[in-house]
Amino acid sequence: MTNREVVTLAHGALMDVYACLPIALARGEGAYLYDVEGKRYLDFFCGLAVTSLGHAHPGVTNAIREQAARLTHVSNVFHTESSARVADELSRRFGGGRVFLCNSGAEANEAAIKLARRWGSSQGGRYEIITALNSFHGRTLATLAATGQEKYHVGFQPLPQGFRIVPFDDLAAVRAALRDQTVAVMVEPIQGEGGVVVPRDGRYLEGLRELCDQRKMLLIFDEVQTGVGRTGKFFAYEHWGVRPDVATLAKALGNGLPIGAAVATPEAASGMTAGAHGSTFGGNPVSCASALAVLRALDADGVLENCAAVGAYLMERLREIAKRAKTVLEVRGKGMLIGIELRHEARSAVEFCLEQGLIVNATAGNVLRLLPPLNLSRAQADEGLAIISRALGAALT
Ligand SMILES: Cc1ncc(COP(=O)(O)O)c(C=O)c1O
Repeated sequence: MTNREVVTLAHGALMDVYACLPIALARGEGAYLYDVEGKRYLDFFCGLAVTSLGHAHPGVTNAIREQAARLTHVSNVFHTESSARVADELSRRFGGGRVFLCNSGAEANEAAIKLARRWGSSQGGRYEIITALNSFHGRTLATLAATGQEKYHVGFQPLPQGFRIVPFDDLAAVRAALRDQTVAVMVEPIQGEGGVVVPRDGRYLEGLRELCDQRKMLLIFDEVQTGVGRTGKFFAYEHWGVRPDVATLAKALGNGLPIGAAVATPEAASGMTAGAHGSTFGGNPVSCASALAVLRALDADGVLENCAAVGAYLMERLREIAKRAKTVLEVRGKGMLIGIELRHEARSAVEFCLEQGLIVNATAGNVLRLLPPLNLSRAQADEGLAIISRALGAALT
């Protein structure tokens, strides 16, 4: 089929909830994708921060193949070695915790919200969670209610109660929103969907930790987008040395297979007893085999170091480009989570890049978001930079 044929077929049958780009992708290899007509694209998007090790990563592919040939599903009525190993690995990386395995970011956050309410119910009936403006936590009703972007709420009211949304990067606003029933604060350490917003207040996350300790509240970090190495550390919170009570992961954990996780301290997870929560597919053996291969590759292949080094290189070159491009307001981010804030909407730059063979993304209207594979080479970084430079109207010297 051609791109046009696939697009027409899809639009005829799917609920049109995605503003899709007009190509159909057929295969991928490392940092490159190929559409159904054979055109090659350099992928600075990774399926929305998911295929962080690149497409068709041999270690991940083999692990999936092997597990799929052996056992694909048993339910959580039983244990499997792959889910036990993933839980053990995540617990270790968190510094000792209890893990709930699920299938997506929204489910991981839903689990974190339920965990906080369950814990709060034993703490005098506290239930309210403070979240941030411009946050993104998912599309289920509770995670939507937690999401600080009105545009996603339209038409879905009434939303579940129990969330108070305050400006991001503003400790005083959190302090002012505290009430007797507040049980937790939930933020992304770096807002992804909200426009790649890194807290400017160097003490914001630390301050949240102190506040949560003082008021005996849970600190929840949504690391669905920032986690699994995207910023150059396994958890983004490691950059600030602030450990939360709960961290959520998904996206890159399976490098393309659906898997999410909520990891919590034993105290925070104390209410999550038998029957409290569950998921038929959570901890699926194939997704877990894929996640184990991802975790192994992160340790063995110097991926995090590459992410930090090539990410810093990208950011430095982009800042040079920005000086010459009147369209750029700011370049920001950490590791391979990079935002280029433009003076105008970013969609036209996305379309220009696509045409030139580079996949990038627009978020928050005017932010060009780059989410390249963490094992991107410098040569591939240069290849992408040349196209971005043209898209921004600046010649690369
Ligand atoms: C920070 C954050 N949390 C939660 C989600 C929701 O994840 P999912 O789409 O897997 O439900 C996303 C998705 O973009 C995200 O960026």
